[in-house]
Amino acid sequence: MTSVADLDTPVVTVDLDIMRDNIRRVQAHLARHSIGNRPHIKTHKIPAIGRMQMEAGAIGITCQKLGEVEVFVNAGVTDDVLLTYNILGRQKTDRLMALIKRVRRLTVVLDNDVVGRELSEAAGHAGADVRFLVECDTGFGRTGVQTPDEAFDLARRVMRLPRMHFEGLMTFPNRDPNTRDFFERALALFKQAGIPVPVVSGGGTPALFTAQNFPMLTEHRAGTCVYNDAMVVSTGTATWDNCAMRVRATVVSRPTPTRAILDAGSKVLTSDLYFMKGYGHVMEYPEAAVTGLSEEHGTVDLSACAERPKVGDIVHVVPNHCCVVTNMVDEVYGVRNGAVEVTWPVAARGKVR
Ligand SMILES: Cc1ncc(COP(=O)(O)O)c(C=O)c1O
Repeated sequence: MTSVADLDTPVVTVDLDIMRDNIRRVQAHLARHSIGNRPHIKTHKIPAIGRMQMEAGAIGITCQKLGEVEVFVNAGVTDDVLLTYNILGRQKTDRLMALIKRVRRLTVVLDNDVVGRELSEAAGHAGADVRFLVECDTGFGRTGVQTPDEAFDLARRVMRLPRMHFEGLMTFPNRDPNTRDFFERALALFKQAGIPVPVVSGGGTPALFTAQNFPMLTEHRAGTCVYNDAMVVSTGTATWDNCAMRVRATVVSRPTPTRAILDAGSKVLTSDLYFMKGYGHVMEYPEAAVTGLSEEHGTVDLSACAERPKVGDIVHVVPNHCCVVTNMVDEVYGVRNGAVEVTWPVAARGKVR
């Protein structure tokens, strides 16, 4: 068996024990509150990990892109998929209809009439039926209808179109109190009209352990929690010990007493800062700051470190945002106790259509 020490750098590793623990913890929490667990696979893009999540008790998976659905359905991970994206254009609606015919349950979200009409037309041509959720913007300021009235009106318009079946409401991420207020008001409108709302889908890793504060949720979609990252740690949702993904990098230069250069730059760690100050957390030197990245160089400020690495030393960086790191590499190495147990191709890498 290959030892982790023999892996050439830069390389992305996933600690298998930590990941299993993360999967178990998330599943147990949501099950305790009778909320379905529908993990978002954009974090790992690896069917084998999706299978572990299903085996732990997930009700199905979430995908962001059709290409991800294709990879996971082809791999037979599950027959219950939620695609949380407005699907537009003939090429995509054709692919969607082909997938709908292959799985027991493939639900899409939409937040406007154009998408509703295109889906209905494509469904008519294909002889398929489309289940949809209405996406609601409950504070994030991205996609989603803006008010409970809009959610109700859009659902009613689209459910009247041929072959379109209203299944419920969806948001990202859950926010207290906006999400609860929004959903309560929307659900009252549907109830008054006698329209069943079987699915209310929430999401987000920072919102995971408070999902029970939104009693209307039937399911929760969390992605990042399978690995965790510096962003999640900064929200208090996980500790460094819960971070399964590490970028293993070599110190290739020590140009000054306070500067180290790593062989991992933006092409591995990505320049996704989120709201963080640095580009990752160096596990061996917690006082270090990854202050800058060029494509193949990571600049680390060691000013605050009593101990400092030398050229040739190996360090492990927990990235800011593990989901984008996933999309940077062909494979991820599953490791346990210093040994490489499995090499996973990132099968849905680059599936952005
Ligand atoms: C629609 C949707 N649902 C769920 C998630 C999962 O969020 P997280 O990675 O914080 O768990 C995301 C993340 O981008 C998302 O866009």
